[in-house]
Amino acid sequence: MTDKMEWQGQVGSSWARQWQRTDRSFVPLTTQLVGRILDVGNGQRIVDIGCGAGELSIRIADARPDSDVLGIDISADLIAAASERAADRANLKFAVADASNWCDASFIPDLYVSRHGVMFFDDPVAAFTNLANSAAGGARMIFSCFRAPSENAWATQIAALVPSAPPADPHAPGPFAFADPERVKGILSEAGWGDIAFEPVDFDYVAGEGEDPVTDALDFFGHIGPAARAIKMLEGETRNTFLGRLRDLAEAHLRDGAVRFAAAAWIVTAKL
Ligand SMILES: C[S@@+](CC[C@H](N)C(=O)[O-])C[C@H]1O[C@@H](n2cnc3c(N)ncnc32)[C@H](O)[C@@H]1O
Repeated sequence: MTDKMEWQGQVGSSWARQWQRTDRSFVPLTTQLVGRILDVGNGQRIVDIGCGAGELSIRIADARPDSDVLGIDISADLIAAASERAADRANLKFAVADASNWCDASFIPDLYVSRHGVMFFDDPVAAFTNLANSAAGGARMIFSCFRAPSENAWATQIAALVPSAPPADPHAPGPFAFADPERVKGILSEAGWGDIAFEPVDFDYVAGEGEDPVTDALDFFGHIGPAARAIKMLEGETRNTFLGRLRDLAEAHLRDGAVRFAAAAWIVTAKL
């Protein structure tokens, strides 16, 4: 579970410091997502929901100079990182805003996009209803989210190393809250969205590379995701054992000069 307060606080700050690595872990997914976004007719005004450090917004703004792109996120640190990266682009802006209540009469989007930024809403029906009410008629939405944990080795294999981890609520705001297409379809339909479709995308989640990919992966895991949370909570010998097992896991996934884990996402499309 990762809730709004965590994103506004320490989790958002960690992502803001680690954006080169989080972008790297999503490279193949980003490419697929951008391809589909460029294929849709809509896109005069585009809002990137939960834009984080801005990679998707920047890629789209560059590929669609005729469009205006706005990236919104609840983390001030991530919006600061995104704004710094994108400073010189006339068709791209970022704003600290909560998708659950964001609305801008001077910027009515005809396309919403998101790379893994929509699974963290406390009340997803209310948030997607607000997004529907804030958009132009006929607006479209294209977002990615993780499929089930069992198809995402990086998450299940790390979780398996954490001693006495409590069972996670599959619907709590977090990386896997949108894994079940039936649930997501229900949420989007109730919020007024139609033509809902799911396309599976499998990709290599790169956790470490460079001169010493294993150490790079361990440093990444120390800041982002389930291992970072565990490292903070564990102490003494238990912590050392966990770190040793994490290293073994990273070594077991070293392939072609990088630490790679199987990852599985949905690309979800919908229309008003
Ligand atoms: C997994 S990160 C993805 C960030 C970015 N899209 C990327 O791909 O790097 C999820 C993002 O959603 C943002 N977020 C969570 N709840 C939000 C909300 N209610 N409104 C706007 N952004 C939100 C978080 O702050 C975080 O940046």
